[in-house]
Amino acid sequence: MQCTQPMLCAQGVTFRYDEGAKPALDNISLSVEKGEYVAILGANGCGKSTLAKHFNAILLPESGSVLVEGMPTSQEENLLALRQKVGMVFQNPDNQIVATVVEEDVAFAAENLGVEPGEMRRRVDEAMRLAGIYAYRDKAPHKLSGGQKQRVAIAGVLAMQPDCLILDEATAMLDPIGRQQVMQTVHRLNRQQGITVVQITHYMEEAAMADRVVVMSAGHIVMDGTPREVFTRADELHALHLDVPQPAELCQMLAREGLDIPDDIIGVDECAAALYRLLTGKEAPAHE
Ligand SMILES: Nc1ncnc2c1ncn2[C@@H]1O[C@H](COP(=O)(O)OP(=O)(O)OP(=O)(O)O)[C@@H](O)[C@H]1O
Ligand SMILES: [Mg+2]
Repeated sequence: MQCTQPMLCAQGVTFRYDEGAKPALDNISLSVEKGEYVAILGANGCGKSTLAKHFNAILLPESGSVLVEGMPTSQEENLLALRQKVGMVFQNPDNQIVATVVEEDVAFAAENLGVEPGEMRRRVDEAMRLAGIYAYRDKAPHKLSGGQKQRVAIAGVLAMQPDCLILDEATAMLDPIGRQQVMQTVHRLNRQQGITVVQITHYMEEAAMADRVVVMSAGHIVMDGTPREVFTRADELHALHLDVPQPAELCQMLAREGLDIPDDIIGVDECAAALYRLLTGKEAPAHE
């Protein structure tokens, strides 16, 4: 695969944590274009976090190469630039807090990059506004909810003005409201700021909202397509111990039973409209 300067590009990447062990990544090639929103799915231990860590040089490939906007992660002189371009947000919000006041926490990583104070003030304010936590700027981070804490972590990454955000199960420890807040924030950053997003998740509903879904299994990429293309392959996903979004599950089940309903539905609204059509024979009334 030849890369023409995408945001992220892995070419034939193999990686093992221990010599002689089974590879955690086995000859993986994946390219993520600028501005894309990609969800990565896969059962526990299939290599999702290992892949994510290759995209900002926390890990380096044993063979193959990883490029960030064309820069090889293996070259040490690129390290600072690519850590700034690719920001990571992890699962546990408590592990990501480093300061006792929100705005200090948000400034921490960018300060370490040597951003000068005037510019720093501007960046931190903008990052807090973009992440929707400006109102909590003088609060203690540990007193915030999980969703607010994750948005503080996101703001800390935004203060570095990244081109790409990688979320490794960043919503896994949140309650439904926190998850929704973080998802809305990340989608807005993708749409309005053009930030490329790679989101590792176990929530199929979150993956259904991405532009593209990549499915991993045992160190390989086994599916790569639009959410509709991937989630209509329910049997294969189930064999990989993955679910499909509930609306897809229901419609595929009804279609299999011979009912006249499309089997490529994945969203709640289109599922509701199809059920209405099935039950009444009429088109569902448009939303107000
Ligand atoms: N630090 C480590 N040392 C040794 N082996 C590891 C290490 N981290 C991960 N592995 C192994 O590498 C493989 C891939 O792990 P990885 O954490 O990338 O999976 P994952 O898809 O992120 O899983 P999960 O959904 O549980 O987060 C697994 O077999 C795991 O046991
Ligand atoms: Mg993981």
